[in-house]
Amino acid sequence: MDYFKYRNNTLYCEGIPVKKIVKKYNTPLFIYSQKTILEHFSKLKNAFSQIKPLICYSVKANSNLSILKLLVKAGAGLDIVSGGELYRAKKVKCNPKKIVYASVGKTEGEIKEAIVQGIFMFNVESINELKRIDKIAKKLGKKVKVSLRLNPDVESKTHKYITTGKKETKFGIDKKSAREVLLGADKYKNLIISGIHLHIGSQIIESSPFVSALSKTKKFLKQLPKIKNLEFLNIGGGLGIIYGNEKPQTAKEFARNILPLLKNIGLKVILEPGRFIMGNAGILVTKVLYNKESYNKRFIVVDAAMNDFIRPSLYSAYHKIISINKKKSLKKNKAADIVGPVCESGDFLGKGRKISVSEDDYLAVFGAGAYGTSMSSNYNSRCRGPEVLVKGKRSYKIKERESYQDLIKKEIII
Ligand code: LLP
Repeated sequence: MDYFKYRNNTLYCEGIPVKKIVKKYNTPLFIYSQKTILEHFSKLKNAFSQIKPLICYSVKANSNLSILKLLVKAGAGLDIVSGGELYRAKKVKCNPKKIVYASVGKTEGEIKEAIVQGIFMFNVESINELKRIDKIAKKLGKKVKVSLRLNPDVESKTHKYITTGKKETKFGIDKKSAREVLLGADKYKNLIISGIHLHIGSQIIESSPFVSALSKTKKFLKQLPKIKNLEFLNIGGGLGIIYGNEKPQTAKEFARNILPLLKNIGLKVILEPGRFIMGNAGILVTKVLYNKESYNKRFIVVDAAMNDFIRPSLYSAYHKIISINKKKSLKKNKAADIVGPVCESGDFLGKGRKISVSEDDYLAVFGAGAYGTSMSSNYNSRCRGPEVLVKGKRSYKIKERESYQDLIKKEIII
């Protein structure tokens, strides 16, 4: 569900023609719909209303400050994975008591900073990390809450790069070690081991992997005596969305399938959604530079590239691409690859698309709200474009286009 729709053959974001926004800001350009963002947040909140979980939006999905502020104002906490994300959380005045911090490689400096800020809890990914947090907490004279990220060894039926709950991945703690930690929790004098954390992967379109991870976790907990400080179960993020033909579980279906496992577990639930909230709430708009034919193969060369949006290159991800002006008369050409200017054959936004375009047309790449700008780079010394948030009939610039000066700002000529 989103608010990017054709009206009279012109693509609109909520109440504004995309063309109008493009005229003002130029391309490449990311446009987000506030209504879509807030509705997705509410959908999840409503689906789980019986248990009132803490919903910590996963900052890595889209970390623009205006987006974070919007979600924090709507009541979200934040799920962070670095000192940089902690800094962003502070900038938008997120209550530190609503911040959870994951990552397999937290540095000493990052841990210290997060303790000083008074975050809610760390999601700990190894025994040595646990020891390190304990040591730092002692030095700071604080008692720190942690959850153990359990690796439940489940198949999450998604791309292998974003599968995180299998035993061969770097994430989480194996069951045996987690059991030992929980039984010997008193050893960690400066920690309160207060939760179990799970995050089994991303873009998971069925409930079954979540059900399986939760069932395993329940069984794991059942085999333990009562652990005195255990209060929370963080079930991570991972909900899949529609990019093409997927039929993902809705928030309601997801809740219906997992609530029975959560209800009598006696733990407060935390969720960490990223993509579900932001994925369909953003498009990338790009200008057609050239129609090209070579050896009978057709290409549409556009002004956005893998540096702006890496998902197609990195995961062979499918993203719907349409013209911002619906064409009636142009006959459908043969399938074309939609490619950017970057010097790599892996630089494409779409492959084999039957789409009619003339040079100077604009294309909209859908599903670009999550893991778009947050994974972008300056590769090929390309300046990244602006980000715009639409609220009804108004658009607001929430990030400037980069300049050449920005590209070299931190470099030193010796
Ligand atoms: N919690 C933790 C601990 C995570 O590592 C992640 C995502 C999330 C929550 C949010 O997951 P989501 O609800 O967005 O699925 N760049 C990839 C996705 C990487 C996900 C990394 N972790 C992509 O573009 O598909």
